[in-house]
Amino acid sequence: MSKLTTTLAMLALSASAMAQTPTFELNTKKLGAPVQKTMYGIFFEDINYAADGGLYGELVKNRSFEFPNAFTGWVPFGKFEVRNDGPFDKNPHYVRLGNSGHNDKYSGLENEGFFGIGYEQGAEYRFSVWARVPNGGEAKFRVMLCNPSTQGERQQFSEATVSVSGQDWKKYEVVLKSNQTVDKGTLRIMLSRGSQSVDLEHVSLFPKDTYKGHENGMRKDLAQALEDLHPGVFRFPGGCIVEGTDLGTRYQWKNSVGPVENRPLNENRWHYTFDYRFFPDYYQSYGLGFFEYFQLSEEIGAEPLPVVSVGLSCEFQNGSERSDRHVDVDALQPYIDDVLDLIEFANGDPAKNKWAKLRADMGHPAPFNLKYVAIGNEQWGKIYPENLKPFVDQVRKKYPEIRIIGSSGPNSEGKDFEELWPEMRKMKVDLVDEHFYRPESWFLASGPRYDNYDRKGPKVFAGEYACHGRGKKWNHFEAALLEAAFMTGVERNADVVEMATYAPLFAHIDGWQWRPDLIWFDNLRSFRSCSYYVQQLFAHNKGSNVLPLTWNGKPVEGIEGQLGLFASSVYEKSDNSIILKVVNTSEKEQRINVNLNGLKKGAYAATLTTYTADNMDGENTLDEPTKYVPTTSPLTVNAPALPLTVGAKSFVMVKIQK
Ligand code: AHR
Repeated sequence: MSKLTTTLAMLALSASAMAQTPTFELNTKKLGAPVQKTMYGIFFEDINYAADGGLYGELVKNRSFEFPNAFTGWVPFGKFEVRNDGPFDKNPHYVRLGNSGHNDKYSGLENEGFFGIGYEQGAEYRFSVWARVPNGGEAKFRVMLCNPSTQGERQQFSEATVSVSGQDWKKYEVVLKSNQTVDKGTLRIMLSRGSQSVDLEHVSLFPKDTYKGHENGMRKDLAQALEDLHPGVFRFPGGCIVEGTDLGTRYQWKNSVGPVENRPLNENRWHYTFDYRFFPDYYQSYGLGFFEYFQLSEEIGAEPLPVVSVGLSCEFQNGSERSDRHVDVDALQPYIDDVLDLIEFANGDPAKNKWAKLRADMGHPAPFNLKYVAIGNEQWGKIYPENLKPFVDQVRKKYPEIRIIGSSGPNSEGKDFEELWPEMRKMKVDLVDEHFYRPESWFLASGPRYDNYDRKGPKVFAGEYACHGRGKKWNHFEAALLEAAFMTGVERNADVVEMATYAPLFAHIDGWQWRPDLIWFDNLRSFRSCSYYVQQLFAHNKGSNVLPLTWNGKPVEGIEGQLGLFASSVYEKSDNSIILKVVNTSEKEQRINVNLNGLKKGAYAATLTTYTADNMDGENTLDEPTKYVPTTSPLTVNAPALPLTVGAKSFVMVKIQK
């Protein structure tokens, strides 16, 4: 080939490469739909030991001896007896420790915690117990933080003695300091030598340093991970546990408020939902209850969003036809009253309403400003709309300002979904909750999902979603990348989608039932998954308004020859910035030209954030918690042109200071 032909061929090649360089048109002047403050948020459910054994700071399992086997979680020794005439009517059981009659035979109890108790060197722990001396006078017992598997001489590494006096039940407290770090420790209680009998109830141990220092508080690293998300909304308490396997085991918020000692135990359906991940000691203490959920929402700056039972116990387990596990419409009033009372608990005047007064008595006289309530979780079939209607009528009548969320069933499309949406429209609910746990292919194809949604009907709450990878991959980077791709479509359609919450949230490494999950933990450590960092990038950069962004006149949503590229853009009024998010799901690096239309010519300070991984199956772990995190560097943008190189399988975000 001659030199001239080679040059011509090269020119032709680069011209075709030029022609193929995607050129995005970003209109920086035309503010589109406002992005709701609630947009990216948190879904909380006590699954995977997310509450008891997780976020809830309590370290003692079965602290009130109310599990069906009173000693689940405990090893009693010596002379002991379970009794049931204790001081708390909803948790009547307690333990009597008696003198064995021999100085060297001890009576006591040892608690195993949740997969062990995690103790940190230098940290303090608040032990508390309700106790009395049944025969009057004084009794003494020792409290010990132990490491039963130590190779050292002594199992106990911190100890205190508690003196109990008199026949009346009283609360006793002592603070113990740990001088070592132990991930699977125990709490041991031993009647002191020569002591007479003692009765013990509600045996509790909390780290002193809880999130925001609340005594009935939350584990700090886990709550901090929630705060760090900057969530717009906090949905609680689930999930399927709202519905119950039967009506008696549904989540009843009234049982979760008031003194913790008298909140009755409920079973946790996740203890048996999957027989191949079976956890017979999984119960709900309700120590983390509705007051704590509202308070946490306030402290992390998220709108509270409670989900309540619609009188249908879990339809997966009981079917969607009426049965004795579903409430008939004419018997629904107590369920509806629970919702009306909940609104009073959250927002009412303590001088006028007993539930509002309870809120004040629990330490929050000011209202929680509840604005949303979801009625029913994953419901479907004919009876859901029948049951929902009287709830909607009564809530609307009494609290027209409350926004009601209805369900579209467990699937992102299909018969139930198609049937429910028109019903929700007819009922004029404000938002419809959509759930999608879907494979990679679904996320790749769903960029345009919300482009053609009805703009006039109810808004969308994408209440549970996660990319479930094929094969044995779970919280790997690629799943997070595809979630990011999909989320650009959510963001572009902010006039339809008002909020979106990834699910589930937490998982104990030794006690999970469901994966992937956003945040993983053991007794001492935690890590944030790749999906967490995607959620965080979107939540921190959600903007205040959508900006129109097109490629060849179409939204950038990864379809029809769009080279696996997904993109969205927003304007943030608080700091006058333009934010562009681009996700390249392809195997190839992509060069893109972005025309920043409407932006004055000149140099602008900007930042470039990149989230990528050397291995698509790679994930963060307890040992390498920050292996895959986004990186940010400064950038100067010479407007109106913004040439961008987006690596293969990467998420890139540019934030331009106007
Ligand atoms: O997030 C786990 C479960 O998935 C939720 O409890 C339920 O709503 C859905 O089926």
